[in-house]
Amino acid sequence: MFILSIETSCDETALSIIETDGTLPSVTFRVLADNTLSQIAVHKEYGGVFPMLAKREHARSLVPLFIKTLQDAGFYKKTSRHVIESPLRKDFRDILDHEPELFAQFITEIPHVDRPPFDAIAVTRGPGLEPALWVGLNFAKALSLIWKIPVIPVNHMEGHLLSPLLTRIAPETSSREKKRNEREDVRYKFAPATFPLLGLLVSGGHTELVLMHDWGAYEVIGETRDDAVGEAFDKVARMLGLPYPGGPEISRLGETGTPGKFALPRPMLQSSDHDFSFAGLKTAVLYLIKKIGLLAETQKADIAREFEEACIEVLIAKTVRAAEVTGAKTIVLGGGVSANKRLRKMLAEAVAEKLPGISLYIPDHALSTDNALMIAVGGALRYSSGTTDIADIRADGNWRLE
Ligand code: KG4
Ligand code: ZN
Repeated sequence: MFILSIETSCDETALSIIETDGTLPSVTFRVLADNTLSQIAVHKEYGGVFPMLAKREHARSLVPLFIKTLQDAGFYKKTSRHVIESPLRKDFRDILDHEPELFAQFITEIPHVDRPPFDAIAVTRGPGLEPALWVGLNFAKALSLIWKIPVIPVNHMEGHLLSPLLTRIAPETSSREKKRNEREDVRYKFAPATFPLLGLLVSGGHTELVLMHDWGAYEVIGETRDDAVGEAFDKVARMLGLPYPGGPEISRLGETGTPGKFALPRPMLQSSDHDFSFAGLKTAVLYLIKKIGLLAETQKADIAREFEEACIEVLIAKTVRAAEVTGAKTIVLGGGVSANKRLRKMLAEAVAEKLPGISLYIPDHALSTDNALMIAVGGALRYSSGTTDIADIRADGNWRLE
C-alpha cells in the first residue's frame, strides 16, 4: 500500500511517500521519499513561530515540495488529461478559498500530473497551529478530490509516539551496491514493543506522559499545566539572547556551563500525579537574569546548563515513577526535545539503573523533530479503521490523543 503524508502543524512543511508491507506488528515501511522544508529562517527574525506567517509559507511551499516528493519516489509523470471541468474547479476553489496562492499553484500544476498510485493520504489534523494545519488539510482534500484518494486524519502526537519505535532494516545488498542503493532501500519496522508502553512526549507544544495499551489505544496520564518543555527552552533561550529555536542553542551553550552554579527549582518533582509545569521555572530564570543585570558569557552558560538540568531531572523522575506505577514494559521518548543529547543519555541511564528489564526506544535525530514519515506511519496504523469523508475533516489545534 502506498501512502502520501502531509505535515504542516507548525514550522516545517513536510511530505513523504511510503510503501507498507504486511500487517501489525510485523509491518514494514519502505521510504520512497521524505522531504522537510524548515521555516526556521523565516521565523528566526521574530524570535518565534507566527501562525499566519507559518500558514503563508506552507501555502507557498506545498505544491513545489509535492512535485519534488513525487519525483524522488519516481511517481512524477506528466499527463495530457488536464481539463478540469468547471464544477470541479469550483470545488477546488471552495476548498482552497483561504489559500489563493496555493490554489493558483495547484490549478496550474496538479491537473498535468498523472495520478500517482496512492492508496491513502495521511495528513496531520492536530494538535498544532490551526491556520497552519488547515493549509495541509486543504491540500490533502484537493488532492483527494482530483484523484479520488481517501484521506486519513492523523494526530501529530501519535506520530511522535510511534517514531521512536521505527527501527531501520539493514539493506540486503552487497557493500558496493549498498551505497548506490541506500536511497532506494530505506526501510523501517517496529521495534518489539510490549504493552503497556509509556511514552514521554516532549515538543514545542506538548509535554505528556502517554500510556499505550495497544496499537492505536492511548491514554494521556499526565501533561503540562502551563508551558511545554520545548516552549520553555525557546523562551529561556530568548531571555539569554539566543536565536530561535532555542532548544539546541541552550543545549550547546550549556555544554560549557556548570550545573548548580545557580539554583533553579524542579517544579512538581514531588507531586503525586503525572503532571508537569514549566512556567514557574521559566519565570525563575527571568528573575535570576534581572537580579544579575549584565550577564557574562560564563554566567549565560551556567544558567543554560542549570535550566536544562532542572527540566531533565523532572522529566526523568516523573517518567520513572509513572513507569513504576503503571507497570509499563516499554518506554519511548518522542518529540522535538528528544533530540536533546543530555536528556537521551540521562534517560537511558535512569531506565537501565531503576527499571531493569524495561526496553527504552529513542528516535534517530531526524525522527525526533517534526517530519512527515511519522504521519505516514500513523496513517498506515489508522487505515484499517476506515476513512473519513473529506467534508467532515476539520483541523483541531487541541486534538488530544485517545
Ligand atoms: O516536535 P517539534 O519538532 O515541534 C513541535 O511539535 O512542537 O519540537 C520542537 C521543539 C522546539 O521547542 C525546540 O526548541 C525543541 O523541540 N528542541 C530541543 C532540541 N532540539 C529541538 N530542545 C532541547 N534540546 C534540543 N537539542
Ligand atoms: Zn512535533
